Amino acid sequence: MPVADPPIAALILAAGMGTRMKSALPKVLHPLLGRPLVSYPIEAAQTAGASRLMIVLGHGAEQVRTQLQQDFPQGLDTTIQAEQRGTGDATRCGVEALGAFSGYFLILYGDTPLLTAPVLRALIEPTLAARAQLGLLVSAKPDATGYGRILRDGLGRVVGIREQKDCSPAERQITEWNPGIYLISSAFFHTAIGQLNTDNAAGELYLTDLVAIAAKHSQAEPGVVAIPWPAEDLEGINNRQELAAREAVLRKRVLGSHALAGVTIRDPESTYIDAAVTLGEDVIIEPQVHLRGSCHIAARVHIDVGCVLTNVTVQSGTHLRPYTVASDSAIGENARIGPFTHLRPGSQLASDTHVGNFVELKNTRLGQGSKANHLAYLGDGQVGAKVNVGAGVIFCNYDGFNKHQTVLEDGVFVGSDSQLVAPVTVGQGAYIGTGTTITQDVPAEALAIGRARQSNKAGWGSRLRARLQSIKAAQALEQNAEPGKPADQGKPSDDGTP
Ligand code: UD1
Ligand code: CA
Repeated sequence: MPVADPPIAALILAAGMGTRMKSALPKVLHPLLGRPLVSYPIEAAQTAGASRLMIVLGHGAEQVRTQLQQDFPQGLDTTIQAEQRGTGDATRCGVEALGAFSGYFLILYGDTPLLTAPVLRALIEPTLAARAQLGLLVSAKPDATGYGRILRDGLGRVVGIREQKDCSPAERQITEWNPGIYLISSAFFHTAIGQLNTDNAAGELYLTDLVAIAAKHSQAEPGVVAIPWPAEDLEGINNRQELAAREAVLRKRVLGSHALAGVTIRDPESTYIDAAVTLGEDVIIEPQVHLRGSCHIAARVHIDVGCVLTNVTVQSGTHLRPYTVASDSAIGENARIGPFTHLRPGSQLASDTHVGNFVELKNTRLGQGSKANHLAYLGDGQVGAKVNVGAGVIFCNYDGFNKHQTVLEDGVFVGSDSQLVAPVTVGQGAYIGTGTTITQDVPAEALAIGRARQSNKAGWGSRLRARLQSIKAAQALEQNAEPGKPADQGKPSDDGTP
């Protein structure tokens, strides 16, 4: 029978100040593709098979914990490193919080967002197979400035890690660097952790010093296993420049996987899709589109140029025409939205709805097949099926203190440039005459019309022009005789007689 692998407990170190970020926000909460930095290594460790997880918090602990509770509702264990005395101290702190545990500790830093489960498996498998005391990933790049450097002996065996601050000029030339991802046997950890000291440039307890300790032990037992891995998956974030660079890599990955899953992305260079977004087959995304937060886009949706969607669900076959801006809203099947539509939070558009240019919805439900195609504000509305909302219609939902509802039942026709002063209900099949201000409920099938009656004054235009012309002629004569005298303005009178 094959021997079962020992259990793995992951420790994620996220207590540091993140001073180089120059930010009021804790470093590990800075978002990449809409998710906080620390959520990436957490998810990688979970997926790689860690049976337990402990997040070590410190700087901004309460804020980080609150965010993690939101992002991982199934719950995560956290502990607090009271004083940030280095990565060695943070690990000791996390191990204590885990309590009795026998197996391997997978130790990750909270600032490495490009890490994925397959990369961790590439470390875990050979380390466990060798039953080594310590396994680590190592990487190389022409200039490894800032990182701890990998020290090897004459036989090429890893014998230690030297931090940037402690490197001699010759050691600074070393191109092999420490990504900070380790698998350490719990038995070795407990014998070695007490041997760390603060005898270094930072005056901290360096976790990295465990590598030299394991290498010394390795005469008798399997000591250090070092697995080389490309830098692209391993680089961390210490400042905003690195934040932008890592996010660009993540963005490319996300776009690439959507493309391979059957999404057309016309211009990856100008397309921004957050990590939590889901896209169905045959979705088409035109240039300059931003999909933020948790958008769920079903099959065959066409998202046209310049759309910005935040937490929006769109059902299949819908066309979002250029420059649709929507947040916290839901759009049904085969709808036609935009160009220049603004859907604010709580907009729910059923299937086959049409919403056009310069129409704003807020907290409003639009029933199946209903239309609002031009220049309208629909706030706090309940609009039934097959309703036609004309151009320039306003739901007057706010009285300066409270918001009120406008209800349009099925089949209502609202003439252009009408206002509905909420709370108000318009019954099924009713008509509202163009230019009406509705202040009372309208019964089903009724016509509501509330505008001033039109009167036509025959010949008014030519009479006005004749009068104005004669005044102007008289003024010209007077000005020649008496310069400087104020002239009669010659306006038509209020009763409409020129
Ligand atoms: C660390 C490594 C370095 C490696 C680099 C990779 C050490 C001593 N050095 O350096 O070899 O090349 O990462 O990115 O480990 N943290 C705590 N408590 C502390 C100090 C740090 O939780 O007291 C956390 C931080 O929040 C961070 C992680 O540990 O997530 C690493 O700390 P950081 O200060 O960024 O270490 P580096 O200087 O980058
Ligand atoms: Ca770091």
